[in-house]
Amino acid sequence: MTDSAGMPYGHPRLVLKNISKAFGAVQALTNVDFEVLPGEVMGLVGDNGAGKSTLIKIMAGAYAPDTGEIFVEGTKVNLTSPQEANHQGIETVYQDLALCDNLDVVKNMYLGREARQGFLLKDAEMERRTLEVLKVLNVRIPSVRVPVAGLSGGQRQCIAVAKTILRNPKVVLLDEPTAALGVVQTRQVLNLILRLKEQGLSVVVISHNLRDVFEVVDRVTVMRLGRRAGVFDIKSTTQEKIIGAITGAEFGPSTVPAPAPSAFEIGPA
Ligand SMILES: Nc1ncnc2c1ncn2[C@@H]1O[C@H](COP(=O)(O)OP(=O)(O)OP(=O)(O)O)[C@@H](O)[C@H]1O
Ligand SMILES: [Mg+2]
Repeated sequence: MTDSAGMPYGHPRLVLKNISKAFGAVQALTNVDFEVLPGEVMGLVGDNGAGKSTLIKIMAGAYAPDTGEIFVEGTKVNLTSPQEANHQGIETVYQDLALCDNLDVVKNMYLGREARQGFLLKDAEMERRTLEVLKVLNVRIPSVRVPVAGLSGGQRQCIAVAKTILRNPKVVLLDEPTAALGVVQTRQVLNLILRLKEQGLSVVVISHNLRDVFEVVDRVTVMRLGRRAGVFDIKSTTQEKIIGAITGAEFGPSTVPAPAPSAFEIGPA
């Protein structure tokens, strides 16, 4: 477990403080602190409904929090929209990927970008950049001119992640990137996450698969019932400890509502 206030890892790239979010009567997040450091892969785990996706969407500018503050490299930001989050260097890949099946890889990589930049990039230039990015990330596909419908799930996931790199982000958020993938495809995506880390990016990855988590993350944040139940350094923890934090095993059955601040609770950020 590491203390965010102690900052043994240097200056955090993205910090969330005291984030709460309700949907009507449902309190999805309560006073959540979160941080990810430069070049760090941070896992985000928790049971269904624990608040993981809601937290990611707040970092992505898709939801406005009811309370709390967000800092990018120490500067307070107001993520009023996904575009503003992109502008702050935060890119997100959701599970539904938002790729266009009938378009080829190059067109998908640049989809929605040319217009916003106010000019049309030349096709050859887009292809060159696409090949470059895929090479850096070690993503192998048969051709960048095939429609993405013809790619495997893992290849599609890799394209969706590679697409975020075109904007030179500081932080990449991945919501369940391996959920629908087989063994080989999962391996491809896990390798890609490590390539992003090598590039100095910060990665936040939601996963239900603790084996995957243990392979690629540096630390893991555990969510439980809308609260942060703990932050663990992956090298000095075990799957049992993390499952204990996910289920609240030390505080009785997970049906107990709103646990008191727990032994997992980290000091104030
Ligand atoms: N748009 C919404 N409207 C109403 N309630 C929502 C909305 N989004 C999330 N919630 C509720 O907030 C809580 C947290 O949901 P969230 O999707 O963040 O959980 P999660 O940890 O991502 O779960 P899962 O592992 O199932 O994806 C749940 O009780 C959920 O029903
Ligand atoms: Mg979710």
